[in-house]
Amino acid sequence: MVKIAVLGYGTVGSGVVEVIEKNADMVNKKSGEELEIKYILDLRDFPGDPYEDKVVHDFGVILADDEIRIICETMGGVGAAYEFTKKALMAGKSVCTSNKELVAAHGPELLALAKQNCCNYLFEASVGGGIPIIRPLNYSLTAERIEAVTGILNGTTNYILSKMEYEGADYADVLKEAQEKGYAERNPEADVEGYDACRKIAILSSLMTGKNVDYRKIYTEGITGVEARDFEYAKRLGMSIKLLAIGREEGDKTLAMVSPFLIPGGHPLHMVNGVFNAVFVRGNMLGDSMYYGRGAGKLPTASAVVSDVIDCARHLGKVIMCFWDAEEAKLMSIDQVKRRFFFRVKDQGLDLAKELFSNQLEEVTLADGAGERGLITPVLSEADFAGRYEKLGDAKAGRRLRIEE
Ligand code: HSE
Repeated sequence: MVKIAVLGYGTVGSGVVEVIEKNADMVNKKSGEELEIKYILDLRDFPGDPYEDKVVHDFGVILADDEIRIICETMGGVGAAYEFTKKALMAGKSVCTSNKELVAAHGPELLALAKQNCCNYLFEASVGGGIPIIRPLNYSLTAERIEAVTGILNGTTNYILSKMEYEGADYADVLKEAQEKGYAERNPEADVEGYDACRKIAILSSLMTGKNVDYRKIYTEGITGVEARDFEYAKRLGMSIKLLAIGREEGDKTLAMVSPFLIPGGHPLHMVNGVFNAVFVRGNMLGDSMYYGRGAGKLPTASAVVSDVIDCARHLGKVIMCFWDAEEAKLMSIDQVKRRFFFRVKDQGLDLAKELFSNQLEEVTLADGAGERGLITPVLSEADFAGRYEKLGDAKAGRRLRIEE
């Protein structure tokens, strides 16, 4: 019998309890031991809940109980969750988490702590919800040099962009509807500004490089400012607009960024719609592989946490290797990255745009014109593009978009 504690009885925490209960046969068989939830830590009481008698309010009770070997941290945030995780690992208790903020901020430190204390810190649920992506990077693709990881890592923004694409709706209207349906948070900033995807690509890029990719240094742009009209141009071009999180090896440096991109119809991430997430991984031997599924939600995320619990139960007293050192990865400035760009100009600014970009622009027009044009540049560096684009001043219409080939 392996006894477990769950920290935080919210959406994911209650999902963990549900998965362990509903799939008990399978979970116990695969763990090689029976798993039992002994405590649930929460500030609240849950009168009438079947697990009411397991609820405790003091983490000290869990820490002091030698029977507890595995802890599921589903609290979120980097305050109490960080303190509890450190104390648990120092006491030799393994921790399984869905907390991407904490993993992105303190991953190497917590992994080192787990190693020193002969236990494990596992975080499959922190990226891509129920999609197995941490385990493939850690254990399956170990013969590979991973060259690039490109993901649609945020369900809220993918839902918003898909709705805008298929219904021609405006950003503000779709966001409001998503909030009403509970898909988007009342404060949607972390999702729409790309901060959530930034934490997730920091984790994936760190596993790709084996070094620490500091999320605070990742270039991050969100989806605000993407307009219904941008999708009309995208349609004309046979493209889609997606919020991509990219981690890529570039010589001895790493490119890590989050931004909305135009992606062509043939791109594997083009068909990833709605709340789904996908991660596209390029290895130097395997080539391309892709991981697709539900990137959020109670049971998909809880399923990933429980898969880590099973891994911990199978490896009690042993350390599961994870290559993520504290040494900082050298990040490439995005100024040097070369790609094509799409932008819109008012009709009266067309001549200026042509002059600024040396008559090398491809023009895209919409049936109703609307007094503007879409233009595509040749391959330019970010810095080169930005310098020329800035000079357009008031002739700009809408925001520019990067093109991922
Ligand atoms: N807010 C996140 C999303 C939840 O929309 O993908 C999962 O991390």
